[in-house]
Amino acid sequence: MSAVKKEFKKITTHAIQEMKRAGEKISMLTAYDYTMAKILDAAGIDVLLVGDSAGNVMHGYETTLPITLDQMIYHAASVVRAVDRALIVVDLPFGSYQGNSKEALQSSVRIMKESGAHAVKLEGGKEIKESIERILTAGIPVMGHLGLTPQSIYKFGTYTVRAKEKAEAQQLIENAHILEKAGVFALVLEKIPAKLAKQVASELTIPVIGIGAGNGVDGQVLVTHDMMGMTHEFSPRFLRRYLSLYDDMKQATERYIHDIKAKNFPSDKEQY
Ligand code: KIV
Repeated sequence: MSAVKKEFKKITTHAIQEMKRAGEKISMLTAYDYTMAKILDAAGIDVLLVGDSAGNVMHGYETTLPITLDQMIYHAASVVRAVDRALIVVDLPFGSYQGNSKEALQSSVRIMKESGAHAVKLEGGKEIKESIERILTAGIPVMGHLGLTPQSIYKFGTYTVRAKEKAEAQQLIENAHILEKAGVFALVLEKIPAKLAKQVASELTIPVIGIGAGNGVDGQVLVTHDMMGMTHEFSPRFLRRYLSLYDDMKQATERYIHDIKAKNFPSDKEQY
């Protein structure tokens, strides 16, 4: 049963801003391939993020740093081909925007032109303000990302909760306002105290979407492979698993192998 108050045929950046104003929570999941994106879109997800978490769950890297712009475009184009309704946001990967604002614009233009996606997402605060402004001059919508920003993992040293201390919390609030002023249409807050996330969401007019940021924000995002239980070693407190696909798929594969070895697949009915 859907809890949607207003039916949107296509989700735009304006639609999710309208959802915030109407008090309707925004649903967001990651997608990296055609088949998964088709299922999530058919289910009515509002926003699909072609996240650089693809580096982890699709490519097997330990961090999000190695994934390239070409690889992100490849994933994004597959998602775009599947989707009728959801807003598709694509992460600018590490190294494709931090150098200068011109590079940030060039990377964003490549994503939009070569994949057909609707918006880009960048990690960081005031240090990327100029890049955000330059990307916006080309008419490309930008989503921000503060809190735990996995592209800076070697600066943080760990994946623990961010902004627990007053100084870091204050800095995050300031950065959130800077990003809103710069013109981002929405902001992801990752792994920060729920109270702080709620404060940011109430101070900003743009939608704030949380991952590990509590229930006081305007929407939620999870990595689909985690939410579906396809990954099973990663179990942070914020993760709710809706399926146990790792176990189900492993068992299905074991049954398939067994049937082949036992010479009962294919059966008479399964051949020409
Ligand atoms: O890459 C990603 O999946 C993300 C989400 C965790 C927000 O940035």
